[in-house]
Amino acid sequence: MRAAVLEQPGLPVRVEDLVLDEPRAGEVRVRITASGVCHSDLHVRDAEWERPGPIVLGHEGAGIVEAVGPGVTGLEPGRQVVLSWYYPCLRCRACQSGRQWLCSDTPALAHRSPDGTTRLHRADGQDVLAYLAIGTMAERTVVPVEAAIPIPDAVAPEVAALIGCSVSTGVGAVIKTAEVPAGASVAVFGLGGVGLSVVMGAALAGATRIVAVDRVPEKLERARDLGATHVVLAGDPDETIRAVRAAAGGQGPDFTFEAIGLPATIEQSIAVLPRGGTAVLVGLTRFGARASFEAFPFVDGSLRILGSNYGFAVAALDFPRLAELHLAGRLPIEKLIDARIGLDDLEDAFARMRRGESVRRVITF
Ligand SMILES: NC(=O)c1ccc[n+]([C@@H]2O[C@H](COP(=O)([O-])OP(=O)(O)OC[C@H]3O[C@@H](n4cnc5c(N)ncnc54)[C@H](O)[C@@H]3O)[C@@H](O)[C@H]2O)c1
Ligand SMILES: [Zn+2]
Ligand SMILES: [Zn+2]
Repeated sequence: MRAAVLEQPGLPVRVEDLVLDEPRAGEVRVRITASGVCHSDLHVRDAEWERPGPIVLGHEGAGIVEAVGPGVTGLEPGRQVVLSWYYPCLRCRACQSGRQWLCSDTPALAHRSPDGTTRLHRADGQDVLAYLAIGTMAERTVVPVEAAIPIPDAVAPEVAALIGCSVSTGVGAVIKTAEVPAGASVAVFGLGGVGLSVVMGAALAGATRIVAVDRVPEKLERARDLGATHVVLAGDPDETIRAVRAAAGGQGPDFTFEAIGLPATIEQSIAVLPRGGTAVLVGLTRFGARASFEAFPFVDGSLRILGSNYGFAVAALDFPRLAELHLAGRLPIEKLIDARIGLDDLEDAFARMRRGESVRRVITF
């Protein structure tokens, strides 16, 4: 089976033929139909995050269940599923309190099956890991049944894939993390798949002013199409802050969302807030990065900063809801998709993403 393998962070990805084991107890085999290219894959590819190798990349995927292992009930071959990149242990304190996005014991972070082994091997027997234990940039994958969430067949595979990361992350940051009320003003820094999903989420929540910020002009047009009411081409930071404040109605946006992962834009997303405002940090920085803010106005103005992992997703509840919102015409997820590409085009997709050129390129199989 063909898969995009990263030997170690920093090296180009190579497409290889791998051997995939049969699903064991509690696992299912999924034939991948679509896998989005997310900046979190690029962080790994570019060695901004330490990760072990060799590893099959990809964590934003959907597919069709092909086979189920012993003991699996409730999920049959033929069902369309979205894969969750943070499947929960369901036993730790975070899981017990319903906050699965904070699970402290998820096997996903070891990039292995829960029993510590891997289902992927090279022809010579060498083990290959699966990114976040799902490794979706491959023709097939074997995952624990908790990571495979059924959604309606009517959802197109490319759309289903994006529900697996960018859409859950961006829409969830608005609806679940920030709980943006109708009538609020919102600014979004960074208009990739995640930031544009924030724009869609803000429109869904009934935000009346949605200010979209990016350094690439084409992104601004995309954002308008998805519900942004104002756009700002990012340039000099002070100019950008002034423009965002003016667009948000003078004082500044009630909520900001940083969907890039750079200290400079994190600082802007805090600096632009009016008294009582909330900055939601969604973009992930390289390891070790720090950002700062002026403390006095933060306290005096009762500001808030919220971190948002996976849009606070409880996959089994939220993936089907996002799918239904899409089918009802209220989340035009298909508009995030730039191009359908092959596995061999992954390095090209990464190069475009570094330049801020594409929104979501989706690998289809
Ligand atoms: N919190 C989470 O759970 C979670 C989940 C998925 C992705 N992420 C992170 O979210 C971030 C965005 O992911 P993506 O896939 O949308 O990335 P992307 O590369 O597609 O989009 C980033 C956008 O930011 C713009 N940009 C870059 N530098 C800028 C600057 N200085 N000023 C203004 N705009 C700038 C780019 O032009 C691009 O449009 C990444 O850091 C990713 O790792 C976080
Ligand atoms: Zn992602
Ligand atoms: Zn847990």
